[in-house]
Amino acid sequence: MDLGTGALWERIRDAALEACRRSTTAAEIEQVRVAYLGRRGELTAALREVGRLTPAERPAAGEAGNRVREAIETALAGRLMEIADRELVRRLQNETVDVTLPGRRPAVGHSHPLSTARRDIERIFTSMGFAVADGPEVESDWYNFEALNMPVGHPARDMHDSFYVDARPGPDEPAGRMLLRTHTSPVQIRYMRARAGALPVRIVAPGRIYRRDDDATHSPMFHQIEGLLVDRDVTFAHLKGVLAEVARRLFGPETGLRLRPSYFPFTEPSAEADASCVFCRGTGCATCKGSGWIEILGCGMVHPRVLEFGGYDPEEVSGFAFGMGIDRVAMLRYRIHDIRLLFEGDLRFCEQF
Ligand code: PHE
Repeated sequence: MDLGTGALWERIRDAALEACRRSTTAAEIEQVRVAYLGRRGELTAALREVGRLTPAERPAAGEAGNRVREAIETALAGRLMEIADRELVRRLQNETVDVTLPGRRPAVGHSHPLSTARRDIERIFTSMGFAVADGPEVESDWYNFEALNMPVGHPARDMHDSFYVDARPGPDEPAGRMLLRTHTSPVQIRYMRARAGALPVRIVAPGRIYRRDDDATHSPMFHQIEGLLVDRDVTFAHLKGVLAEVARRLFGPETGLRLRPSYFPFTEPSAEADASCVFCRGTGCATCKGSGWIEILGCGMVHPRVLEFGGYDPEEVSGFAFGMGIDRVAMLRYRIHDIRLLFEGDLRFCEQF
């Protein structure tokens, strides 16, 4: 072998560089690397032979061999980069981006119509100076009935079709059976007792309530917002004034309010309030059953017994209370004819608001 003359090194180098130039993929480059620089590669074999030369010949031959190795390594690395560049260019040429395409709108959720209705009602009352309060949904008989002037055996209890539950009152709660509250009125008692005689008492208390009802206009779970105002010299005129203003703000300035005498054990006198029908503006339609009016709440002057249960002296103070159906309000504002739609969570429904 002519390791010393350089002819062998040149031949290996030229062959390797030629193979390198002809390579068009990274895999081919790797094949060339293995063929020349690998453990059984041609250059590797030649370099091994250098060890057999005489000490005088060895340095020049070794130096020549190493230069060839560097030349091949450099050529392979350069070629590999060219191949990568070319592939990138080809990919970019095939990849077209239509910059005029409209963007994809992310799906953004929004408030449920019931939440919107509740929030709007709360805003109207807070702007009039009412605070927002709440109470438990699992309630004791005492708060739900007894303290609202419905003693055991009172016929009005039957109207409520209660769901009783196996639960025990908390340690600081009055003894008795537990139920899912049938109205938000127990919050009246809880709030008055917490105020411990301070004046004024001026709250609204929105929340879920439960009754054993289920049809197009009744759901076993629905929503009320309770109102309570207790102070010196509160009269029925204040009640009517507040409710008329709320109806106008909820349903529009031309909305009328009508009070009909009614009965609740916890108010005296009691009334039910109708708003003029938002669908026909009072001329009579299917939704208002031809009457031109739609019931939205029950109300009245707080019964003296209830004030006493709340820790207030009926000789000194008076108050009014009301319970408004939030679901009713939402149905009227958004023209929804079946209350159950509000609770099914069907996106085709919810997305319309
Ligand atoms: N709690 C009554 C009901 O559920 C409504 C109401 C509240 C009536 C407050 C008068 C006063 O029907």
